[in-house]
Amino acid sequence: MPFELPPLPWAEDALEPVYSARTVSFHYGKHHKTYVDTLNKLTEGTALADTPLEEVVKSVAGDGAKVPIFNNAAQVWNHTFFWSCMKPGGGGVPTGALADRLTASFGSYEKFVEDFKAACVGRFGSGWAWLVSEAGGLKITSTPNAETPLTTAATALLTVDVWEHAYYLDYQNRRPDFVQAFFDRLVNWDFVAGNLAQVG
Ligand code: FE2
Repeated sequence: MPFELPPLPWAEDALEPVYSARTVSFHYGKHHKTYVDTLNKLTEGTALADTPLEEVVKSVAGDGAKVPIFNNAAQVWNHTFFWSCMKPGGGGVPTGALADRLTASFGSYEKFVEDFKAACVGRFGSGWAWLVSEAGGLKITSTPNAETPLTTAATALLTVDVWEHAYYLDYQNRRPDFVQAFFDRLVNWDFVAGNLAQVG
């Protein structure tokens, strides 16, 4: 099939105990995989099946007749991006140019985390919180459901999945605790810094 489930950047149990192997097995092995499988079914025999994933997301965005394709394609992209935002032994305060930019944009690293947590908690229902680069500045945004910065002028630097399936097995209804744990022990600042370096 043309669209494939990308391998995880770490072993399924590598984020234990902060993000359990059980959560990863469902979140990656069931949810992410289902988005890939459904996208393949929905695009089978069409030109979209031979189109790069990012182009699929952009080309069907806003097309009322292709909402299911958009939702599944965007969720494939969002999840692949999300896995790279975490790493074993991650978390803590970033350094270098990224730290300087966060301080310049939000006042301090602590204020950035506070604002990002507010975006996560304030997203009613399912969605994503993002750190993006747009017009030379850093911004925190959140999107509902499968919506993604990929269809906007902004470039994604970091995301946290705040769908309940992302955290419920480990944190139940405690979304703020999951987001705090993400910043304390999971976030992969090297990935974020690499994304920032590409946009300047
Ligand atoms: Fe998810």
